[in-house]
Amino acid sequence: MDRNRVYIFDTTLRDGEQVPGCQLNTIEKIHIARGLERLGVDVIEAGFPISSPGDFNSVIEISKAVSEPVVCALSRAVQKDIDMAAEALKFAKRPRIHTGIGTSDSHIKYKFNSTREEIIERAVAAVKYARNLVEEVEFYAEDAGRTDNEYLAKVVQAVVKAGARVINIPDTTGYCLPEEYGAKIKYLMEHVDGIEDVIISTHCHNDLGMATANTMSGLLNGARQVECTINGVGERAGNTSLEEIAMILQCHKDIDLHTGINSRDIYSMSRNVSSLMHMPVQPNKAVVGKNAFAHSSGIHQDGVLKNMSTYEIIDPKDVGIDENSIVLTARSGRAALRHRMELLGITVEDDKIDSIYQDFLRMADQKKEIVDEDLLVLAGQGNLQKAVKLDYLQVISGVGVRHVASIGLDVKGEKFEAAATGNGPVDAAINASNQIIKEKVTITELTIQNISLGSSDGCRVHMQVEHDGHYYYGFGTNTDIVASSLEAYISCLNKFIR
Ligand code: KIV
Ligand code: ZN
Repeated sequence: MDRNRVYIFDTTLRDGEQVPGCQLNTIEKIHIARGLERLGVDVIEAGFPISSPGDFNSVIEISKAVSEPVVCALSRAVQKDIDMAAEALKFAKRPRIHTGIGTSDSHIKYKFNSTREEIIERAVAAVKYARNLVEEVEFYAEDAGRTDNEYLAKVVQAVVKAGARVINIPDTTGYCLPEEYGAKIKYLMEHVDGIEDVIISTHCHNDLGMATANTMSGLLNGARQVECTINGVGERAGNTSLEEIAMILQCHKDIDLHTGINSRDIYSMSRNVSSLMHMPVQPNKAVVGKNAFAHSSGIHQDGVLKNMSTYEIIDPKDVGIDENSIVLTARSGRAALRHRMELLGITVEDDKIDSIYQDFLRMADQKKEIVDEDLLVLAGQGNLQKAVKLDYLQVISGVGVRHVASIGLDVKGEKFEAAATGNGPVDAAINASNQIIKEKVTITELTIQNISLGSSDGCRVHMQVEHDGHYYYGFGTNTDIVASSLEAYISCLNKFIR
């Protein structure tokens, strides 16, 4: 084993996808999995098969779609979970079952109403059971971050003996300090017999903003697998960012650890995940944020122009940002559009290019410049078979007038029209659509953001609605705020009107 090789375990499609509103369909997951394979990740955690038929199916399809990375499925330390995981992995060239149980006193007492001894027995039984079904078994000690080290070493010792090849030490709550997390890994390295024959994995959450620091501390103390997600997406404040760890190791040659990541694919992967998950990347996000390489102070600009190394530690090209090719305008042709989309990892089928190009021209007429985010929005349009489609929208709004919206909807092929007033143009448009669909729907969340530039820019609307006791998420993008809100509403409707 190359002791300086760090294995990248990507959990964007499992821990990352648990974020409310970020759910992906199987086609989108396959698209991301293929991108992860190109990026060079070692392991793709494809889902939690027992959790839903959708997850089960995604693990099957991802197993068929990729050949290089190990495909991993999550399970609890429960036989039926492990059976489902093994079944979902049956097409994987290199399957791995990731099973585990909570080990902190709080989990043992409140979650399992159990004892430390019984937890070890359940952990060992799960690993042995999984080893009968697949060669590679990874064990996670949930809430290891708050588990007492001496007891954690006993658990790890037992599961290593039972046949686990990789031992995951999650800081589930994101509570640990870097020194503390590093010391935990060091303790295991020093107190578990046979630890040199297995791989210790970090799995850090970012609740206190320390996920990357904790992961690095784990690596510096002997861990050799990193569980992470693109853009750091994940439950609550997210998981460790893949791109941050990959670039830390690439920049810090002094650490002498390396990954198999093709760093030039990082930017396109980041934009793809952001677009498909409808999760904007914060502008000042390390490595992939819009401002990560933007120098606005005169002193910085002067220095960078004289020599890039004065203020930049990463060459933007190393993460796949090629400044010359970012902007497209209404004068760009089909070839330029297709080329730019391919750089973003989007394959454009020959029979789709004309309609995408027409949408592109319409958008380019409304906006001065088309940036990557816009292209990803264009690429995502028309993916779904929709029961409800917007035919037209007209609004009257302003100060001192009544806000009125007239809309035309196509519902399962039938045309409807309605007009309504509201306390603003968005409200009027929603009221008009409610007259047509005649369902009781309550908007429980509505966020409007602009995509990248100023007032000529497109805006993205995220919406959550409640219908019949269930919550649905929808998204809309348009240069018109009312239109994007209505699109978001219609995309919510399409989740339950079939
Ligand atoms: O954060 C965590 O503990 C997890 C485990 C299920 C691996 O995601
Ligand atoms: Zn997690």
